[in-house]
Amino acid sequence: MKIDVLTLFPEMFVGPLDFSMVKRARDSGILNLRVVNLRDYTHDRHKTVDDKPFGGGPGMLLKPEPIFEAVENLANATTRVIMLTPTGRKFDQQLARELAQQEHLLFLCGAYEGFDERVRTLVQDEVSIGDYVLTNGALPAMVVIDAVTRLLPGVLGDDQSSQDESFSHGTLEYSHYTRPAEFRGMRVPDVLLSGNHAEIEKWRREQAKLRTEERRPDLLE
Ligand SMILES: C[S@@+](CC[C@H](N)C(=O)[O-])C[C@H]1O[C@@H](n2cnc3c(N)ncnc32)[C@H](O)[C@@H]1O
Repeated sequence: MKIDVLTLFPEMFVGPLDFSMVKRARDSGILNLRVVNLRDYTHDRHKTVDDKPFGGGPGMLLKPEPIFEAVENLANATTRVIMLTPTGRKFDQQLARELAQQEHLLFLCGAYEGFDERVRTLVQDEVSIGDYVLTNGALPAMVVIDAVTRLLPGVLGDDQSSQDESFSHGTLEYSHYTRPAEFRGMRVPDVLLSGNHAEIEKWRREQAKLRTEERRPDLLE
């Protein structure tokens, strides 16, 4: 998969996307990631990307011209252009799976008060990572890229692990234990030591359901 990110802060992407599974995906060529500076698409001496809102009000808005030029340059017929914005569709595992099917994603990261409204005509999706407001779109883009990348075939050691985790079956994940079987008086449930795979599977399904009822009943509705 190819992912391009258009941002005012390319330096923020150094580090978070250079470790763990995303690094592995990049190193193996499964993910081709490019972070592009929006200022590269300006043509004035000050590399201006923002301007005051018509009608007044606080803050500055990202101007349409550099964003239109960048998208026209970076996108093609197979590109899904995604605006990161608190007013977008709430990001979840289902959307991560949907995006993981695409050939090319182009993320538009906002800053200041956000985008000139006309930029919306360029995008297929508007995505929010939650009901709170961050300073700019770099962290939201990294969150989405991380969640999507681990779903790409070949990235996780065992592709089954992305099918068995929270949100994959509409429930939260069941409890896990590793060795030792007893630690500070806390014992691993006997069923997990029994070797009876059918019973273990049944116990896990029940645990997942109980935990979901307790913590996230909305998922079961
Ligand atoms: C300070 S925010 C702008 C908030 C905007 N004025 C509003 O009230 O919706 C600047 C940029 O950060 C990004 N951003 C902030 N919070 C976000 C969130 N929860 N999800 C996705 N992007 C977010 C967006 O790209 C946004 O354009």
